[in-house]
Amino acid sequence: MKNHFLIIFPSLLLVVFLLIACKEEYVYTGKLNPDNPKDTTTTTGGTGTTVITKPCSPDSVYFEQSVLPLLRSQCASPGCHDAASRKEGVILDSYANILKTGNIRVNSPANSKIYTVLSKSDPEERMPPAPNSALSNTDKALILKWIQQGAKNLTCDAACDTTQIAFKTNIQPILDAQCKGCHSGTSPSGKIALTTYAEIKKYVDSGSLLGSILHAKGYIAMPQGGKMAACEIAKVRNWIRKGALNN
Ligand code: HEC
Repeated sequence: MKNHFLIIFPSLLLVVFLLIACKEEYVYTGKLNPDNPKDTTTTTGGTGTTVITKPCSPDSVYFEQSVLPLLRSQCASPGCHDAASRKEGVILDSYANILKTGNIRVNSPANSKIYTVLSKSDPEERMPPAPNSALSNTDKALILKWIQQGAKNLTCDAACDTTQIAFKTNIQPILDAQCKGCHSGTSPSGKIALTTYAEIKKYVDSGSLLGSILHAKGYIAMPQGGKMAACEIAKVRNWIRKGALNN
C-alpha cells in the first residue's frame, strides 16, 4: 500500500504541474504575429466569417455594437466619465453604469440628460465640452433613437466579412469609433494619436496596436473597458496580416 502511494502521489503532482504549465498564457515577444495559432480571439482565426445567430435588423439600435463604443470612446475617457474620474457621478463605460448614472428617462430623450447635454449651446456645458468637438448629428441621432427604443441592451451579429479589408473603408472607421475619442487632439491618451494612416501604422509596426486590442500579455488592454467585437478584431488582424496597406 505504501509503495503504491509513493508512485501515485508524485504522478498526481506531475499531472497537476503539467495542467498548470499548459494553461500558461502565451507571451508575445516583440512583434506580434497576426497568424499566431495560440490566439483564439475568433473561432475562425480571423480568415473566415463569424457564425451569425442573431442577425442585425436595420431598424434597431444595438447598444453593444454602436452606442457603447461611441460613449466609451467619446465620454468614458480618463479625467471625464471613466470609472476612476466619474465626473459629476456619471460613469459611461458599461450598460449597467450608463443606465445607473446617465440620467436616462427610458423612451423620452427630451428628459434624458445623456441626450440633452449633447446639444447645449454653451460649449462649456455641452458634452463633450470644448475644446472637444460636439458629437456629429449622426451620433446624436443614434443616442436619440436608442432612448426612444427603450435604451435596451441589445446585441446582434453583423455579417463579418474579413476577406475584403481596406484601410479607408473598413479599418479607419473602426478605429475612429473605438479609439479616436482618446487617441486624438492636442494631448492624446498615452501620447498616442491614432487618426491618420501614418500614426496608426507606427503602432501596427511596433505590435502594440494588435497586442492591445487582443488583450495580449505584455500590452495595455484596449479599448479601455472591454474587448472590441470579435469581428472587428478579426478585420484589423486580417488587414495587418495582408501588409497593413494604406488602401
Ligand atoms: C477611454 C480612452 C481610450 C480609448 C477609447 C482607447 N484608448 Fe488606447 N490608451 C488610453 C490610455 C490612457 C493609454 C495609456 C495607458 C498607460 O500608459 O497606462 C492608452 C494606450 C494605448 C496603447 C499603448 C499600449 C501599450 O501596450 O503600450 C495603444 C497601442 C492603444 N492605446 C491603442 C488603442 C486602440 C487601438 C484603441 C481602440 C481600439 C484605443 N487605444 C482606445 C486610452 C484609451
